[in-house]
Amino acid sequence: MKGYDEEKVLSVHHWTERLFSFRTTRSPSFRFDNGQFTMIGLAVNGKPLVRAYSVASPNYEEHLEFLSIKVPDGPLTSKLQNMQVGDTVLIGQKPTGTLVLDALLPGRNLYLLGTGTGLAPYMSLVRDPDVYARFEKVVLVHGCRFIKELAYHDYLTKELPNDEFLGEDVRAKLLYYPTVTREPYENTGRITTAITSGDLTKKLGLPAIDPAQDRVMICGSPAFLEDVKALMLSMSFEEGATNKPGSFVIEKAFVQR
Ligand code: A2P
Repeated sequence: MKGYDEEKVLSVHHWTERLFSFRTTRSPSFRFDNGQFTMIGLAVNGKPLVRAYSVASPNYEEHLEFLSIKVPDGPLTSKLQNMQVGDTVLIGQKPTGTLVLDALLPGRNLYLLGTGTGLAPYMSLVRDPDVYARFEKVVLVHGCRFIKELAYHDYLTKELPNDEFLGEDVRAKLLYYPTVTREPYENTGRITTAITSGDLTKKLGLPAIDPAQDRVMICGSPAFLEDVKALMLSMSFEEGATNKPGSFVIEKAFVQR
C-alpha cells in the first residue's frame, strides 16, 4: 500500500487484558530517530486503517516494537489485539515526532516522564547510547494505575542493566522510577505530585530539578500533558522543537481511546 511498508508480526506479548506489545520485521529503508512515532495499522477493505504509534525499539535493532492499549470498541486496536505471528501490519514510511534528543538543549539530567503507553518512546530512548553520552543521569518515570500495567518493568530492572553493550551506561546513569496510583507499591501517587513534593528527586538522590540544567520529555494522556506542561512552564522550562531546541518537549501518547 502506498506510503506503507508491509511487515510481518514476529511476536506478541500481552501484558494485561488492556495492554500488549508486538514486534514486526523492519524494512531496511525504514529509518527513524529514537523517540519518534509512525502510523501503524491494517489494510481493511483495501484501505489503511492506521493510528500513530511510538516506536518502542531502538533504531539499531533489526525488528520494530510497539506498545498498544486494547480499546474494546476501537476500530483498529480491537483488531490489532488479535494479531498472530505471521500476520501482516502496515508501517508508515514517514516517522516523525518531537521526543527526540535534537529538540532538547544539552543538559545535566534527562527526565523521561510517561503515563500508560507514554512509556513507548522512552523504551527506544533508554536503549540509545547517545542518550547516555549526552546526559549525566537519565531518569525514567513511568506512572500507571496498577502495578501490572508497569510494562517492561522486569526488562528495565533485570535485563537492560545486564545488556552486553548498554549495561555499563545503564547501571551508571539510568534511574527508573515506577509509580502507581491505585494500589500500594514502592512508589505511589501521580508523577506531578512526585515532582512538586520533591519526592522524585529526593528518593533518587538527585539535586532538585533545574530548568537551567535539566531536560524533560513528557508523554501521556492529554490531561497528563496539560498538567505537566503547566508545571514545567511554572518552573521556567521552555518548550523545544527540532528547529528550536528547548528545555522540555511534549507528545501525546497515541491511541488513548
Ligand atoms: P490517577 O489514577 O490518579 O488518575 P490513565 O490510565 O487514566 O491514563 O492514567 C495513567 C496514570 O496517569 C494513572 O496513574 C493516573 O493517575 C495518572 N494521571 C492521569 N491524569 C493525570 C494528570 N493530569 N496528572 C498526573 N497524572 C495523571
